Amino acid sequence: MRRTLEAERERGRGAVAEATTLEGLDAAQIAILGRKSPIAQVQRALGSLDAEQRKDLGRIVNEVRSELGDAVAARRAELERLAEEALVTDDRLDLTLPGRRPRTGSSHPFSLIEYEIADIFSRMGYRVVEGPEVEDEWHSFDALNIPPDHPARTSMDTTYVDVPDHPELLLRPHTSPMQIRTLETEGAPVYVVVPGRVYRNEEVTAKNMPVFHQVEGLAVDEGITFADLKGTLETFYQALLGEEREIRLTPSFFPFVEPGAQVDVSCFVCGGSGCKTCAFTGWIETMGSGMVHPNVLVNCGLDPERYSGFAFGGGYDRLAMIRYGIPDIRLLWDSDVRFLEQFEALS
Ligand code: PHE
Repeated sequence: MRRTLEAERERGRGAVAEATTLEGLDAAQIAILGRKSPIAQVQRALGSLDAEQRKDLGRIVNEVRSELGDAVAARRAELERLAEEALVTDDRLDLTLPGRRPRTGSSHPFSLIEYEIADIFSRMGYRVVEGPEVEDEWHSFDALNIPPDHPARTSMDTTYVDVPDHPELLLRPHTSPMQIRTLETEGAPVYVVVPGRVYRNEEVTAKNMPVFHQVEGLAVDEGITFADLKGTLETFYQALLGEEREIRLTPSFFPFVEPGAQVDVSCFVCGGSGCKTCAFTGWIETMGSGMVHPNVLVNCGLDPERYSGFAFGGGYDRLAMIRYGIPDIRLLWDSDVRFLEQFEALS
């Protein structure tokens, strides 16, 4: 065994010195030090020797291994240096050519508008949170005061997910379930906004997708009134769409708010005088809103005598389309780099 080791030491030195390429060196390293090398075989056989011999030979194995390991490392450094030198002196390489610019990517228009919305609400003291896209019926409907036979369930064209033993799982058709999750886990006072994807079983058209984005807002505290809702939304839309914007609240019904209101904002394309974007009405329909229904507070373990709050929620894909002049919503889902590159300067 001792002789094998000495022979391997010699053979190894030679093989390393003779390697002229990095690939050759890799092969030599495997042949000399790899799992199937004679050195490794000796090492495995050590176990069957008596203690004295094992100690003796073990020491030599370690010595040979470390010597050859060092030799490989030194040769590798040298070959790498030579390869680099060869590159520089190779006249096929023109170092004066301008470099290739790496592609940096950009934020998607959906993200751009989401960042703006989140930023405005953060400045008003809201926390930005996200919630699960796969939801259950309790958070999506029951706790939101939508009874099982209520038309709101079907009008939202909910898609159920086929998971064995979980018949109640669905793709959330709105971000309102996060009202419940937030109140359940955090109680009151609470101020949050929740941007995210929602799903409804709808046709794909230039204006509609079965998946789209909504932002939910929820403020629950002592003494919150409808005036707070109106002031908050006005501040929000003026920050997002310009100081001159006005909002208009008209009565509307959602089971989880009372009273409920539809939120329109004066058209930010024509300034309210009427154009194609606002269908010559001067107003753009943006959100649903209202005062959190006492039943919702009770469902989340809060005392409606003590707390009140408002909630609002609506899509923002259309805002992004108008703002960035995007004529067809499908462009926003195609992931075509030539389209997305146009938003580089905005990210
Ligand atoms: N979730 C409702 C929808 O998707 C909007 C809404 C949110 C209404 C919050 C009132 C309060 O249509």
